[in-house]
Amino acid sequence: MNTINPSTTPAWGRLVSLQEKYKHLSIKSLFEKSERFERYSLQLEDLLVDYSKNRVNGEIFSALMDLARETELHQAIESMFSGVAINQTENRAVLHTALRNRSNHPVYVDGKDVMPEINSVLTQMKGFADQIHGGTWLGYTGKPIKSLVNIGIGGSDLGPVMVTEALKPFQNPNLEIFFVSNVDGTHIAETLKKVDPETTLFFIASKTFTTQETMTNAHTARSWFLEQAKDESAVAKHFVALSTNSKAVAAFGIDTKNMFAFWDWVGGRYSLWSAIGLPIACVIGFDKFEQLLSGAYSMDEHFRHSTFERNIPVVLAMIGIWNTNFLGAASEAILPYDQYLHRFAAYFQQGNMESNGKYVTRQGDKVNYSTGPIIWGEPGTNGQHAFYQLIHQGTHLIPCDFIAPAISHNPIGDHHQKLLSNFFAQTEALMKGKPLDEVHAEMRKAGKSESEIDQVAPHRVFEGNRPTNSILVKKITPYTLGQLIAMYEHKIFVQGVVWNIFSFDQWGVELGKVLANGILPELAGEEEVTSHDSSTNGLINAYKAMRK
Ligand code: F6P
Repeated sequence: MNTINPSTTPAWGRLVSLQEKYKHLSIKSLFEKSERFERYSLQLEDLLVDYSKNRVNGEIFSALMDLARETELHQAIESMFSGVAINQTENRAVLHTALRNRSNHPVYVDGKDVMPEINSVLTQMKGFADQIHGGTWLGYTGKPIKSLVNIGIGGSDLGPVMVTEALKPFQNPNLEIFFVSNVDGTHIAETLKKVDPETTLFFIASKTFTTQETMTNAHTARSWFLEQAKDESAVAKHFVALSTNSKAVAAFGIDTKNMFAFWDWVGGRYSLWSAIGLPIACVIGFDKFEQLLSGAYSMDEHFRHSTFERNIPVVLAMIGIWNTNFLGAASEAILPYDQYLHRFAAYFQQGNMESNGKYVTRQGDKVNYSTGPIIWGEPGTNGQHAFYQLIHQGTHLIPCDFIAPAISHNPIGDHHQKLLSNFFAQTEALMKGKPLDEVHAEMRKAGKSESEIDQVAPHRVFEGNRPTNSILVKKITPYTLGQLIAMYEHKIFVQGVVWNIFSFDQWGVELGKVLANGILPELAGEEEVTSHDSSTNGLINAYKAMRK
């Protein structure tokens, strides 16, 4: 990977000037040109991305595209797809795209084509998923599996959670799926209350198979199971492992025949396309899982081969860079107008923040510009009645992505029209706002007194000019969901390339883990703890006292 500091490029310099020149640019005024929507929206099959409601004009857009070129984005894209070890701090390739490479053209890592291994695990997954989905995999007492419990955390949890929720309409009604991630015993305890050991299958999902939370929950599940089954040989019918670490899987007591492998070049937060997706394949069926892969592949092809100006992930990423680095936005909201997508923002909270939450450049210096935004969000319309107040009238600029399907899986009465009317209205309101004279006129019309108008009117003003993207998809299907996920993955990638950071490591999660491992033994026994600062000592000792 290159080590170009984006802030030293000519394009960045131009963007700084443009920021000054257009500091009062109003999105509303940009719509005086009627072709703005046609010019500032992109379509890939049934996915439409409208980015016209951003504070971006032709000059700004072209400088953003130049910034992508001057930071050598094209080379980085090719390096990723072709298996170069672009995750340099871990010396690994980044090949979640190979997992959904439906063309099956060879992809080489260290001179070896990885496609045969990928295809062989996919075949193994199909064989297993068909049995679970079809009710022919039997538990130790001969009953078909009814309950699936995925034990994993972070990338080994959030992807399967998000996708199984998003694709609920495609789920086999004979199966129910649960996810246990938190090391808080409540999570596993409450889940185990709902399932029967005779008909439950556990997926122990962990890339490393060493993660404290997952291993603790896995051991608890195993003990719970054996209390009932009283037979170690029954474990094989009820526990499978999704991991890269066959040694640790065997040591845990899972037969490696029941292990579904993946590889170190699959990042945890990019792993739902790998064996980590097995629970998804089991509940929606392997054919639908393949459609998910195909959707992602279609976005991969679009991303790899489209010119930057017509490239959805590139455009979204560069608009995000404009908002972050030139308009000062510190966060981005993802707002799906689809209840089934209720974990979508949480999924990309990890995807984005673990990838681009970095302050060190690829050459190891501190950056002199902002990097990854804070990602958050909830489904509409719930969010409207909770936090949109701040988006409309707060002091922070929060660019938002609004996502909606044109066709609902639940066409009941006029629910979907109402939902979509809100989807359309919000971006319009965020752009147009409501000026003071309009508020005055409205209040006068409503018969308010002049003194009331003077007092209340300023509070009813919306400045508007708040940037949004609208992402409209025909229907949420495995295919379109695959496209949507890959779109955001590539957006994150592009931003990491331009920001000159490494997007595929996550050293920032290590320190807390190490310190927790040191504190764990100190929590046993009665002795006073004195090894930390006075706050940490005080808290630990207070905790011990409370437990007496
Ligand atoms: O929290 C750090 C992390 O390494 C994530 O990147 C990862 O998704 C998660 O832990 C789980 O890791 P594993 O799959 O190895 O259990």
